[in-house]
Amino acid sequence: MFDILWVKHLHVTCVGLSIGLFVVRGSLELLSWPWRHWRLLRMAPHLVDTVLLSSALWMVWRTGQYPFVDTWLTAKVLALLVYIVLGRFALGKNTPQRQRPLFFAAALLSVAYIVGVALTRSPVWGLG
Ligand code: HEM
Repeated sequence: MFDILWVKHLHVTCVGLSIGLFVVRGSLELLSWPWRHWRLLRMAPHLVDTVLLSSALWMVWRTGQYPFVDTWLTAKVLALLVYIVLGRFALGKNTPQRQRPLFFAAALLSVAYIVGVALTRSPVWGLG
């Protein structure tokens, strides 16, 4: 049986990998470097994000904390949707090159917000 601490370590490792892979792809995209030619950079984010979300769902189940019940998890899920949309624009083939830095920076801000929410278990980072 999985231990909660073990799964949390897995979740946090995937968070680091996921953000790292996004930073690499976003930076290369800004430099107009054809990163899609590199199979690892195309495939790895899907694998990492699947493990990230699976571990999240597992912890939701095991800790009995649910989005739309616990406000910090509601904030996390909504901010995750924002991050996904902004990330898609930052990396999207149809995004004008001059708009990319804006989407990239906004996506990084949204994921930083998610990490803050996770660490404080508060939608306002415990500042409210
Ligand atoms: C990019 C997306 C995500 C990031 C950056 C992220 C980040 C984190 C971090 C850093 C922690 C560890 C907090 C600590 O040290 O205690 C954590 C824990 C956790 N995350 Fe995530 N997470 C993400 C997505 C999600 C999603 C989508 C869910 C659920 C729907 C989720 C549910 C949880 C739960 C239940 C915990 C454990 C909380 C506890 O120990 O009580 N995470 N997350």
